[in-house]
Amino acid sequence: MDVLAQSLSGQFVAFDGPDGSGKSTQIRRFVEHFRAQGLVVREVREPGGTAIGEQVRTILLDPINEAMTLPCEMLLYMASRAQLVEQEIKPALKQGELVIADRFVSATLAYQGTAGGIPVEWIQQVAEVAVAGCWPSLTLILDVDDQTAAGRLNPLLDRMELKGRAFHAKVREGFLEQAQTWPERYCVIDAKESEDNVRKAVLEAVENRFLHENPAKKLEI
Ligand code: TMP
Repeated sequence: MDVLAQSLSGQFVAFDGPDGSGKSTQIRRFVEHFRAQGLVVREVREPGGTAIGEQVRTILLDPINEAMTLPCEMLLYMASRAQLVEQEIKPALKQGELVIADRFVSATLAYQGTAGGIPVEWIQQVAEVAVAGCWPSLTLILDVDDQTAAGRLNPLLDRMELKGRAFHAKVREGFLEQAQTWPERYCVIDAKESEDNVRKAVLEAVENRFLHENPAKKLEI
């Protein structure tokens, strides 16, 4: 196992970004890379990732639920997350696994906060309850303009993807604002680049964070 893989044992990294950023492909490649090194990687997705969370995901993404209010939506995302943290993330970190989350609190801040209109401080407070101290050491934002993103989406859009261009432009703004506010735990990756270049940029960001900067302390769980 190389020194980077060793340094990732017991660490928590989140991938996030606008819909159509190519996040899922990059997560797959990242996970394959470190599993090939012999690292145990726990991959979780949001909303969902547990039996209870997957039921919440169905409610959240079904276009039939167009009457859902914004506070209800925000709390359902957090409910799914609370279950995921307790049931999957904390036990994995305790066992020294690398946890990779496909979205986390950063998504609620961008979608329900910056784009939706719920004050970011309120979301932070609810997040404290949901994550119980379990914050990612690094959140990678795969940044993409809305035209490129739209071209990458499956034509069968879910309830969130149906929210329109202006909404998604604000989502992107929300992610970039977070990265500016918390540069020590966020990194923005230009996801308009080719798949290979994005993959390299992701690895570089992880290397910088976990090898060259002050090595991240492990969470006390
Ligand atoms: P996915 O497409 O990455 O599976 O995410 C599902 C959708 O849910 C996506 O449009 C982003 C949205 N979402 C939120 O609006 N708030 C959240 O907290 C999370 C985790 C996802």
